[in-house]
Order: sequence, then C-alpha cells, then structure tokens
Amino acid sequence: MTINITVLEGDGIGPEVTKAAIAVLNETASKHNLDLSYDHQLLGGIAIDETGNPFPDETRTSCQASTGVLLGAVGGPKWDGGKVRPEQGLLKIRQDLGLYTNLRPVKVFEGLEDLSPVKAAKGMDVLIVRELTGGIYFGEREEGTQYASDLCGYTDKEVLRVLRVAFEAAKGRSGRVTSVDKANVLASSRLWRHHANALAADYPEVQLDHELVDAMAMHLVTHPSRFDVVVTENLFGDVLSDESAAISGSIGLAASASLGEPGTPGLYEPIHGSAPDIADKGIANPAGAILSSAMLLRFGAGEEAAAMSIETAVEQAVAAGIRTGDLGGDANTQVFTDAVLERLA
Ligand code: NAD
Ligand code: IPM
Ligand code: MN
Repeated sequence: MTINITVLEGDGIGPEVTKAAIAVLNETASKHNLDLSYDHQLLGGIAIDETGNPFPDETRTSCQASTGVLLGAVGGPKWDGGKVRPEQGLLKIRQDLGLYTNLRPVKVFEGLEDLSPVKAAKGMDVLIVRELTGGIYFGEREEGTQYASDLCGYTDKEVLRVLRVAFEAAKGRSGRVTSVDKANVLASSRLWRHHANALAADYPEVQLDHELVDAMAMHLVTHPSRFDVVVTENLFGDVLSDESAAISGSIGLAASASLGEPGTPGLYEPIHGSAPDIADKGIANPAGAILSSAMLLRFGAGEEAAAMSIETAVEQAVAAGIRTGDLGGDANTQVFTDAVLERLA
C-alpha cells in the first residue's frame, strides 16, 4: 500500500528541516520496503506570496486525500502586519482536518543531560497531550486599538475526547495523567477539571492528578521527571511544550503529531517555528522534523518498526556527540542528517 505524504515545507527553516526528514524517510523506506509518495503543496507565508491564501484549496484537497501531512514551519517577520498571517493557515489546516489532539513527547536524550538548563532533568520523559482545535485560539475575537478580546470556550465533547486520548496513552506508559488547568479562576478550566474527574472513573488503573498551570510551569523546572502524561487546553499546552522542550536540551529536538478521528489524516510537525534568525544558513537542527516523520509512519501508516528505527538512529547520533549549534555542537543540518542516515538499521 502506498503511503501518500503531503509535504508542506512552509517558511524559514521549514524547507531545510523537511528536506532532512524526507531523506530519512526515503532511506527508511528502502530498508523497510515501504512505498512512499510525496505531494508538495503550499502553506503559510509562501502560500500567501504565491496565492494570497495561507491555506489554498489545492493544499486542502491534497491533505484530505493523504495518509499524513508533513509540515516544516510557517511564519516570519516578512508577513508581520499583513492582512493575513501565515499562522492563520496553520490554524485552518488543524481545524479543517479536525486535529483535536496534539501529541508532544519530550524526553531527555542520553548524553544530553548536561545540556539541560535544569539540574533535575535526567529521567524526564513526558507526553504532552495538547487540545488543538478549541479554546482561546478559536474563540470569538474582537480587535481594535482601544479594546480587544479573545474568547476561551470549551464544550464537554471537546474536553472529553482529548482527555480520553490522554487516559488511553497513560495505560501504555506509567499510568499517570496530570491534567493542567487554571480552575481557581477560569470557568472553562472548571469544566475541564469536572470532566477529567468524571472520566477517571472509567480508568481505575490510571492515577489522575491536577495542577494549576502556574504551579505546573514551576514543577516542570524543579521536578520534570515527576510527570508522565500531561493533558491540557490549547494555549497552556503551547506554552508548556516549549518549556518542556527547552528543559530537554533544545526546542530543535521536539516532534509532534496532530491527530483527529481514527482513520483520518494527521499532521506531523516539529514543535519549533520557522526560526527566522537562523533560516537559510543550513544550521537548523532537523531532529524535531525527522522525529515527526517517524510519528507519521507510526500513527499514519502503522509502521511501528520503521518509526522506531528512525527514533533509535536519532538517539544514537545524538549520543555519539553529533550536535547542531542549538545543542552546543558544530554539526550543520546536513552533517546531522547524514549521521542519522548512517545509523538507520
Ligand atoms: P521559533 O521556534 O521559530 O524560534 C525560537 C528560537 O529557537 C530561535 O532562537 C530559533 O533559532 C531557535 N530554534 C527553533 N527551531 C530550531 C531548530 N530546529 N534548530 C535550531 N534552533 C532552533 O519561535 P519564534 O522565533 O517565536 O517564531 C518564529 C516564527 O515561527 C513566528 O512567525 C511564529 O509564529 C512561527 N511559529 C510557527 C510554528 C509552526 O509552524 N508550527 C511554531 C512556532 C512558531
Ligand atoms: C505551535 C505554534 C502555533 C501555535 C502558532 C504558530 C500558531 O506556536 O505549533 O506550537 O500556537 O499552536
Ligand atoms: Mn508553539
């Protein structure tokens, strides 16, 4: 069966890290006898430049027909102040494909413990489950220079479906879920907490804890290895996942899978942005993009062995001391990618 991948390189370092991920996918395909086919389409700033629309119809059609979508990153200063922003394309594609769950695994790789800004980072291995199509990102917006507002609303259905993913994920890990909210202030958080408690009754084997988001930001820095599955709403998940990635050594390492209903195409992208400060220099860390392509093989195509071989190769490259600049090394994107290619079993 052909694995049809829609490739959205996007902006800034997006094309550089996506190229690396595709090289690794191709090598993996030849080792594991997979049939991959790519359809390159536009999203973000480049799509605005070429079509005026950050999420063109042609892109939507290709994504909907795909096994999975591989995305680099979108955005950059070039489009600041414009009528439409590249980021709107990203929000639209998430909404259009119904990608309500964003899985962001973050762990401290062997050999990188000393790079963490946090002393207690050793042993950190969390799965952030971020709600992705609701909350303040998608609420009613009013924008003026004297007043502006963004509405944060959640329905019970939106909360329950992503919480369920977190509980299910915990069963296959160490059986703990930390639900993060701001229930001491926000009504939407109290709804969230109510349903987390109710759902916990269906999962007697999972231990549920709650943390307020401000305290959670602190605990992640003081005791990152205390947490397993962390589930939270859209905006809190955005912030806590960058924080977690930095604790693991660099945001350049972190991958993600955005998933909707089973059987529908997911979107796979590193959690970092377009990094305009290092774009076009060939020095970006491609690990997040490469690991995202592994998640595509796992969740989109059910190719677990191929996915694991990519993850192992990345870990081995890092453990062997091949490091890009964000990890304190001098390997460029190509050198790191070659190191991964060499190690693919
Ligand atoms: P960013 O993640 O692009 O960069 C933050 C810092 O991390 C920068 O110093 C950058 O050089 C560094 N960095 C990021 N990825 C790296 C990598 N792979 N290797 C080495 N260093 C890396 O965040 P930002 O600067 O706040 O945002 C830049 C643009 O990207 C904005 O337009 C933002 O909206 C957009 N953005 C897009 C996505 C996405 O497409 N999913 C995600 C986040 C931000
Ligand atoms: C991310 C990004 C996006 C988000 C932006 C670019 C819209 O920061 O994927 O984490 O906030 O979700
Ligand atoms: Mn983010």
